[in-house]
Amino acid sequence: MTSPMQKASELVAHAASICVLTGAGISAESGIKTFRDAGGLWENHSIEAVATPEGFEQNPRLVWEFYNARRKAAKVASPNPAHLALARLEQGRLHRAKQKPTATNGHGKAHRQPQPITILTQNVDGLHQHAGSQNVVELHGSVWKVRCTRCGAISDDHPVELPVLPYCSACGALLRPHIVWFGESLDPGVLDAAEVAVEECDLFLVIGTSAVVQPAASYPFIATRHGKPVIEVNKEKTPVSAIATVSLIGLAGEILPKIV
Ligand code: APR
Repeated sequence: MTSPMQKASELVAHAASICVLTGAGISAESGIKTFRDAGGLWENHSIEAVATPEGFEQNPRLVWEFYNARRKAAKVASPNPAHLALARLEQGRLHRAKQKPTATNGHGKAHRQPQPITILTQNVDGLHQHAGSQNVVELHGSVWKVRCTRCGAISDDHPVELPVLPYCSACGALLRPHIVWFGESLDPGVLDAAEVAVEECDLFLVIGTSAVVQPAASYPFIATRHGKPVIEVNKEKTPVSAIATVSLIGLAGEILPKIV
């Protein structure tokens, strides 16, 4: 009788293309607050005031104080064993793929191979990239990117703490965090990339998310509907636990290195 951990390891070992959905729980062991745990960000802040376009309109100074605090927390945080395990998994697969002749579609043209691993992260802290992961889709944007409220220019070469009200060097208008706020839709290119990754994968991992915010929360259910095995790693049960092929309850930093 294989244990759930062994089953998860086997599924990972045999998967050709893995899609990973991560949430705040994977960064918790790096010292970054989650949103809905006890003491989480939404316990100490009103979502309406700091994470909606209306809140920004009403009091941009308060919103920038909130995001400057999140930038500072992200700056001093380091990737934890969970981030590093995913980066190692990708590096190992990319290395293996290089050794295999690229499949062609019979006309000598290499047809596009699905990516060995795609991380769809709801996190905005940049820790997956910091850990070395290359194929990362930031569903909700990044605290390291800012966007001009007038010309839409996106830039990310900024000091950790921005002036309390930063302005666009190109057109002088107020800058906002390049973050998807409640009531806003995700970037269409990001949505497309996520949908392709969910469709193309043959294994879906869900790590450290309460799976309550759409559209991210729908991806594990879409994967299941397409007959793909789903492995969940989370500190507590979530709506995904009931449909997961394997649901591992515990800390991502301890479990992930074991299964990858
Ligand atoms: N290891 C594994 N899971 C953990 C750990 C850990 N060390 N610590 C916490 N968790 C779990 C919690 O039990 C919870 O189920 O991670 C989950 C974090 O859930 P949330 O705080 O709701 O964060 P997330 O799911 O990423 O929120 C989604 O909501 O507020 C918006 O845009 C924001 O991206 C965010 C989205």
